Amino acid sequence: MAGSSSIGAETRLQHSPRLWRALGLMSGTSLDGIDVAMIETDGEERVICGPTLTIAYKDAFRERLRSVLGGIGPVGELEAKLTRLHADAVEQFVARHPGMRIDIVGLHGHTILHRPAERRTWQLGDGALLARLLGRDVVADFRSADVAAGGQGAPLAPLFHAALATALPKPLVVLNIGGVANVTWIGQGTEILAFDTGPGNALIDDWVRHHTGAAADIDGAVAHAGRASAAHVARFLATPFFERPPPKSLDRDDFSQNVPGDLSIEDGAATLTEMTAAAAAAAVRHFPSPARKWLVCGGGRRNPVLMEALDRRVGGIVCPVEAVGWDGDALEAQAFAYLAVRSVRGLPLSLPSTTGVSRPMSGGLLFTAAR
Ligand SMILES: Nc1ncnc2c1ncn2[C@@H]1O[C@H](COP(=O)(O)OP(=O)(O)O)[C@@H](O)[C@H]1O
Ligand SMILES: [Mg+2]
Repeated sequence: MAGSSSIGAETRLQHSPRLWRALGLMSGTSLDGIDVAMIETDGEERVICGPTLTIAYKDAFRERLRSVLGGIGPVGELEAKLTRLHADAVEQFVARHPGMRIDIVGLHGHTILHRPAERRTWQLGDGALLARLLGRDVVADFRSADVAAGGQGAPLAPLFHAALATALPKPLVVLNIGGVANVTWIGQGTEILAFDTGPGNALIDDWVRHHTGAAADIDGAVAHAGRASAAHVARFLATPFFERPPPKSLDRDDFSQNVPGDLSIEDGAATLTEMTAAAAAAAVRHFPSPARKWLVCGGGRRNPVLMEALDRRVGGIVCPVEAVGWDGDALEAQAFAYLAVRSVRGLPLSLPSTTGVSRPMSGGLLFTAAR
């Protein structure tokens, strides 16, 4: 889906040499596809958001990707295919915006394993191959340095959230509901706290896919027709994860054992939707002070049953990020464009308060295009 463009004439950069045109590429844990987003940024407070594009995965490819979650089996061929799909996505973006300069590409790749306690995180996506295919400089492997240094390697979008929120009233919360959900609390000064809150859409998606074959509970229709089981939600909320102070991060399937087996399709969807909202709302206990607003990005903001449950649980201050003019589908891709610039500038991508790493940590690997 195309976003609005606020990047102006190409000549503008001549007067602002420190601004980069960066293209971010994100394949989220929801397995829905590749998000492409252009931003213009100095990697610090200056961010202008440009056009975006989402390329959905074909079902067969999505299932291949799903089959290697957990780092199972040989992935070499699949990684090359995934990388070529990213290259195609960039070419499609370029075809829609001919002549638009791209200084750097940020390739997040697709997380197939995330076990920071074992100092392992694995994103499929070959930065060297992408640089070669595109003939452009690519930054990839954003999470490894943080994890190697003892951090969670996630979430990484918080510094971007904070840059976007510079002029907004604080304290402010940005909640991303992707496959997994992650929250960024931004305080009055430079204070940021970030962590994964629990499942995002993944449990709901898996439930609906298992029972109906559909990829998601579109507009929360299935959940809307059911009733959440308070007992299941209460049991789920008693999981020690929610009480555990941040830093903390999750793999896509960390909560898959919490899926209720004994409910109707509708009641199960309602229960999982309520559980997802409850998990996000449970983040409040860790915030240094209450937020004035919760801005929600990611595909989960399109699920009205989920948004209503969240709003009810955090006290009527929840709205989609579009309320402040951001693009909730593109934010993660924009974040990796932003982090690509920070990476080449040697600026931190993570902080002790965002991933638990012991000091502000730079990261990402630069793959230069052969010239
Ligand atoms: N209209 C909708 N109704 C309900 N859920 C939706 C809708 N649109 C998107 N979603 C959910 O959002 C997910 C995609 O969100 P996204 O932010 O792309 O996650 P990720 O970053 O993990 O890829 C889908 O898998 C689906 O669960
Ligand atoms: Mg996605």
